[in-house]
Parts: sequence; C-alpha cells; structure tokens
Amino acid sequence: MTVRIAPSVLSADFCRLGDEIAMCDAGGADWIHVDVMDGRFVPSLSFGVKVIEAARRASTKVIDVHLMVVEPERYFDDYVKAGADVLTIHAEAAPHLDRQLSRIKALGCRAGVALNPATPLAMIEEVAHLVDVLLIMSVNPGYGGQQFIAYSVDKIARARRLLDQVGSGAVLEVDGGVSRDTIHRCWAAGADTFVAGNAIFGAPNPQAEIAILRNLCVEQV
Ligand code: DX5
Ligand code: ZN
Repeated sequence: MTVRIAPSVLSADFCRLGDEIAMCDAGGADWIHVDVMDGRFVPSLSFGVKVIEAARRASTKVIDVHLMVVEPERYFDDYVKAGADVLTIHAEAAPHLDRQLSRIKALGCRAGVALNPATPLAMIEEVAHLVDVLLIMSVNPGYGGQQFIAYSVDKIARARRLLDQVGSGAVLEVDGGVSRDTIHRCWAAGADTFVAGNAIFGAPNPQAEIAILRNLCVEQV
C-alpha cells in the first residue's frame, strides 16, 4: 500500500516558509498539509489564501488543505484558484456534506472529510462513495504539538473497513500527534497518509525524520 507523509506547515518557521516547504519537497514529503483555522470552528487563527499560494509556489507536491472553519464553502473557489489539490472540510462544520463534496469535485479538486475524535464514523457512511480523502483526527483540532489520542486507532481500523466495503479508493489520512511512537499503529490499522507537524519540524533533521516515519510503516517482526 502507498504510504504518504504530509508535513504540516503549521509547525514550520514562518520567517522561512518557502524554504521550509522546499526542504520538505526535497526530503521526500508526498503531500504538503496546510491548516486553515478561523478562530470559530477552532479557537485559533492560522492563515488563508496567501499561504496556500505560497505553498503552491514553493512545492511541486500535492497541496493538502485542511479547513478547520465554519461555512467552509465560502472559501472553495479562492483556495482552488490559489492551488489547493485537496480540500478537506469537517463534517461537524458542514451539514450539507453531499452538496459541498460535490462542489469541491466540480472545481476539479479532491474532496476530503475530516472527523473530530468525538465524531462517529457514521457521519460519513452515506457519502463514503463521494469522498476522495477521509481524515481521522487523532487530536482535537486547533493546535500543533498535541498528544495523540490512542482510541483513534480503532476508528482508523473501522474507517478502513468502511472504505473497503463500499469499494472506495479514498485516501485514509490521520492528523494529530503522529510521531515515531504512534505512526506504526495508525498504519497497521489501515491509514495510508500521515500528517506530521511537530514530529518533522521539531526534529533536528526534518528530512531524515520524514524517512524514519515512512520506514516505520512496515510489518514489524
Ligand atoms: C491540528 C492540525 C494538525 C497539526 C498537526 O489541528 O490539523 O495538522 O498541525 O500537528 P502535530 O503533528 O504537531 O500534532
Ligand atoms: Zn491538519
């Protein structure tokens, strides 16, 4: 199975954002994860269209935009124009998931749904066939550097079964507290795409860390 490592630029040095992203590209990152926060869906504010444009210029990889915002549909057009390849919305913030996923796809973008730790998988059961990316949050969204919530692993396993049951080829992504200590469990449960902020940008050698994380996604004897 493909393994994708997606550094989260939320933990990058913003004084050197372009260099940090280019460093991840050169270090073998598969996706570049861009966290948009509005101070309403989550307590903190992060950034918007300008940083997505900057990430697009600095990287040739998939720009994976995670929208932690209310009324996410207000941003679709601008963010796709800015260079987003994936737009992931939160099920908790988007009551009309069918409509919003279809709109994202109509813009030529991959459509993702994220679920908070307390949100049941059943929220996406009916639209699983429309989902290009299913993002399981393994922390409560809003901040980098939080501790991995261990019970997320069981949800990843159930998400894998659900996607397989409907014959979906969707990406199964995990976000929050992914590190050397937690990535293998997520991979073994069926995740294929791993967001990591603090683990990569907080490492003495971020490029080596990308490789270490990837290499942990194998059967262990
Ligand atoms: C959390 C964000 C994450 C965050 C992950 O709300 O969605 O993408 O940057 O950071 P780490 O890997 O440090 O938990
Ligand atoms: Zn994220």
